[in-house]
Amino acid sequence: MIYAVIAAGGIGSRMGNPEKPKQYLKIKDKPIIVHTVEKFFVNSRFEKVIILTPGQWVNYTKEILAKYLPLNEKVVVIQGGSTRNETIMNAIRYIEERDGLDDDTVIVTHDAVRPFVTARIIDENIEAALQYGATDTVVPATDTIVESRDKTVISTIPDRSLMYQGQTPQSFKAKKLKELYLGLTEEEKGILTDACKIFSMKGCPVRLVQGEVHNIKITYPYDLRVAKALLDEEMTGKDA
Ligand code: CTP
Repeated sequence: MIYAVIAAGGIGSRMGNPEKPKQYLKIKDKPIIVHTVEKFFVNSRFEKVIILTPGQWVNYTKEILAKYLPLNEKVVVIQGGSTRNETIMNAIRYIEERDGLDDDTVIVTHDAVRPFVTARIIDENIEAALQYGATDTVVPATDTIVESRDKTVISTIPDRSLMYQGQTPQSFKAKKLKELYLGLTEEEKGILTDACKIFSMKGCPVRLVQGEVHNIKITYPYDLRVAKALLDEEMTGKDA
């Protein structure tokens, strides 16, 4: 079975908004998280769309989803974890307790604050995860990436043609991800913010899915302004 896992467990500290986490801010007519969930809700391949939020925002999330989406048992809201990876593990635990995990249980994990994901990206994630076990959505790096180990001088400049910027979705065979995650030391868990890195550091291949430049993550107030402009284009039917 295939599940969408919407990671909304963060508090959006870089947005500097004291009132609510950024996933609840409105762009145009709806909260960001609603725009994002809609993209998964309409895809009939998902058994469930599991949304994970901070504990104190679970009920609020249920209320806004009930307001904007048709009533549907396919959408569930549960508590996330203390890190993004712990949030994903909570989703896997939820699936395991209700439906069990088998070798073909796939989760398509996506940031709640990336509302411009496309149907193509989601479909290609599902296909690649079923076939290869792990996927990352990426776009070729546009800026040259500079590495500095001491934050003062350049250590190395990798060949830009080999560099990509990671987006989401990241999609996995859930059982394999759980096994790999449980095999990590606490120290490794602390460093690994990226679920794909769990696979790659254990020598398991992660297939690339082509993202889109407009599949942005809303992180800073500036991104909200960009998101509003992109949504304007989406609504007027231009290529966003
Ligand atoms: N996320 C999550 N569980 C966590 C932390 C983050 O599900 N414990 C989610 C966020 O809600 C977000 C996505 O992961 O949708 C990407 O993370 P990021 O943009 O870093 O979000 P925040 O952690 O909320 O932001 P900040 O780092 O500015 O506090």
